[in-house]
Amino acid sequence: MLLAHLTRRRLEREAAALLRRRRIAASPCAPLQTVESGESGTRRLLNFGSNDYLGLASHPDIAAALAEGAQRWGAGSGASHLVTGHSQAHARLEGELAQLLSPWVPDAAALLFCSGFMANLALLTTLGAEQAAIFADKLNHASLVDGGLLAAARMRRYPHGRLDLLDAMLRDCEQPIRLIVTDAVFSMDGDVAPLPELLALAERHDAWLIIDDAHGFGVLGANGEGALAHFGLRSERLIYMGTLGKAAGVAGAFVAAHPAVVDALVQGGRSYIYTTAMPPALAHALSASLKLITGEEGVARRQRLATLTAALRERLSALIARHPGRGWQLADSVTPIQPLIVGDNAAALALASALDAAGLWVPAIRPPTVPANTARLRITLSAAHTLDDVERLCGALAACRPEADRHA
Ligand SMILES: Cc1ncc(COP(=O)(O)O)c(C=O)c1O
Repeated sequence: MLLAHLTRRRLEREAAALLRRRRIAASPCAPLQTVESGESGTRRLLNFGSNDYLGLASHPDIAAALAEGAQRWGAGSGASHLVTGHSQAHARLEGELAQLLSPWVPDAAALLFCSGFMANLALLTTLGAEQAAIFADKLNHASLVDGGLLAAARMRRYPHGRLDLLDAMLRDCEQPIRLIVTDAVFSMDGDVAPLPELLALAERHDAWLIIDDAHGFGVLGANGEGALAHFGLRSERLIYMGTLGKAAGVAGAFVAAHPAVVDALVQGGRSYIYTTAMPPALAHALSASLKLITGEEGVARRQRLATLTAALRERLSALIARHPGRGWQLADSVTPIQPLIVGDNAAALALASALDAAGLWVPAIRPPTVPANTARLRITLSAAHTLDDVERLCGALAACRPEADRHA
């Protein structure tokens, strides 16, 4: 019965062009990547789909630090942080992260997690007690949605960016603890949340603001400190979550917040307590990554990323203007996430496979990851790309001949 049910569900997904597939990489994460293809063959593709925004995932200094960390600490942590798994490498990294965020979150303490998904589950289930209410942007990441659903608190979702509606919800709220929760950079659209206005609302309604900066940490701010530095926001009410597997190039995540908030996560965060600590070697490598992010090299990489982003937007806007019949739309984003919205699931898949045939790897993102009828190519840039790479992508997109175009 179970297998029949699963088969039927899979066929339904396939019919709706919603089947998901993995692809096997045969070389490290980088703009030019080798992937397995067909019978024991490989192909080299130009990757515009990773979250390796600064190009650090295969940076030799970080790989060397990982090897050094493994020599010093071995492969695994052996237990959860509260049993025997918490090492000097973890404690040092937490200290560095707390210091980095403390200009924006006064007296911040930091806590490491194995992933951003787990950090968000811990945050929402620990802080979202029965006497709390959670207010969440509708386009928040799945981990924030799931955290809110698991929490004892009632979660209310406001339409993307509709602060007027959020304001009304907060005004009506009777719960004494209020948590506003938002992606800082929306992962599938690339737009930046209006954090100053959200913080003003939090202050007006005695709420706390939880910010998921998975796509801003390392990318935004003069030293890569993320979205709070980008806006110059400082408040005790800010609860910051940054991930370490995207721009930081390794894995994991952290929360930086008031020490009482961090202590509550240690005491009660189930996805913190009941899981093996990340290998200390990863924490060691992350300290090396932080040094790069906040140093001169980080500044240069962010500058390069900004140049590539501007060039891509200019070329894509011109392309869309030349081919209005294709119905493509460029999302309003200043970040390295530059989605090209196609609409139809099958059309997005067809476009991704046409690009694949031209040697480009650009993932098609479909519902439920994005709302119905907004399937898209999620184009992401890395500081490791070149302007030639951007030209190649735009040239290949221009050469794609979708159905609508052929009949135009
Ligand atoms: C906005 C956002 N939050 C959280 C996460 C989860 O982070 P991690 O990949 O470290 O689990 C992601 C990852 O895709 C994300 O995009």
